[in-house]
Amino acid sequence: MTQNRLFFFDTTLRDGEQSPGCSMTIEEKLTMAHALEALGVDILEAGFAIASNGDFAAIDAIARAVRGPRITSLARALRQDIEVAARSLEHAHRSRIHVFLASSDIHLKFKLKITREQALEQTDECVRLARTYCDDVEFSPEDATRSDPDFLRIMVSTAVEAGATVINLPDTVGYTTPEEYGAMFLRLQEQIPALENVILSSHCHDDLGMAVANSMAAVEAGARQIECTINGIGERAGNASLEEIAAILHVRKDKYPLENGLHIERLYPTSQALAKCISFAPAPNKAIVGNNAFAHEAGIHQHGVLANPLTYEIMTPESVGVPHNRMVLGKHSGRHALAHRLSELGYKLSMHDLEAAYHRFIELADRKKSVYDQDLIALVPAHLRRGVEPNEGIRSIGEPIEGSVA
Ligand code: KIV
Ligand code: ZN
Repeated sequence: MTQNRLFFFDTTLRDGEQSPGCSMTIEEKLTMAHALEALGVDILEAGFAIASNGDFAAIDAIARAVRGPRITSLARALRQDIEVAARSLEHAHRSRIHVFLASSDIHLKFKLKITREQALEQTDECVRLARTYCDDVEFSPEDATRSDPDFLRIMVSTAVEAGATVINLPDTVGYTTPEEYGAMFLRLQEQIPALENVILSSHCHDDLGMAVANSMAAVEAGARQIECTINGIGERAGNASLEEIAAILHVRKDKYPLENGLHIERLYPTSQALAKCISFAPAPNKAIVGNNAFAHEAGIHQHGVLANPLTYEIMTPESVGVPHNRMVLGKHSGRHALAHRLSELGYKLSMHDLEAAYHRFIELADRKKSVYDQDLIALVPAHLRRGVEPNEGIRSIGEPIEGSVA
């Protein structure tokens, strides 16, 4: 097994779709599947085949049309789920059945109403059954992080003996911490030597805002598959965000010297494609793909970035597919950014005129939430304005002023 290759398992179309406001039509799922293929994900979880006819049809359509990633369908540890999952994947170039069964007592007792012994029997039977359809079978002990460690060990061993090729340890309710999650991976590898021959996978939810940190802890502890979603969408607070993990691996190669198959310049276009399919865009302050991820407002920062972007940017916007960074003019901005934007608009002010314009600009910015190009032009002395057509399209009302670092 390649120890320095990290596999990206994208579950935007399955766990991601499970979040309110994120359901997609088959056409939208196909569009996203092609976008994920172009991004270079290794495994694409296309849906939960037994959940609905629509889910089945989407998995089938993706399996027929998408050739790059391995296509996966989710199944509970039940005969019918596995048979339907296998059918949905019949036309896939490469496929995987992903079987899950809860391992925590709280799920076994209150949700499934089965004993631990019954859960082990089901694990054994269902992983074996899935292997009769597919040579690649992933097993997930759901709620692994809240499970009794001894029982978790037995359940994972059972799945490996039954033929699981990937063991995923989900933090289903986003409960764990990086230290605990990493320790769980290390402990199981010590306890079960046969895990050497399977891929270990992380699957983290963001209920406490630690999904990405927990995923990276799993990688440090030997996980070589990360399950994640575009824009971090997913059940409740969402899943680990693919673009954040990809950027960490890119920016911190020194700490994580692992190869992966992503074309990271496709991160922003893929995020935008998803935002078009679902009913919301990522929050403006979302790392990597949020509208403000490469925006600078404070004067000191703007001055630094105009002199050299490395002063306040740890990656270039272009490296992750964002067209350029943005200088947002607000009350924290400085003279450099004001002069820069005015010059983009075609006005070159003397030091004296700039000083006067800057004072009026700060007064204005203190009163208004957003300052517009029209407001800026009004700050230019009348004799300079005469006969000058503003260069760049004036930003429309409602669109705050911003410029780029050329
Ligand atoms: O969060 C979870 O436990 C899941 C499993 C189905 C892998 O999504
Ligand atoms: Zn999940």
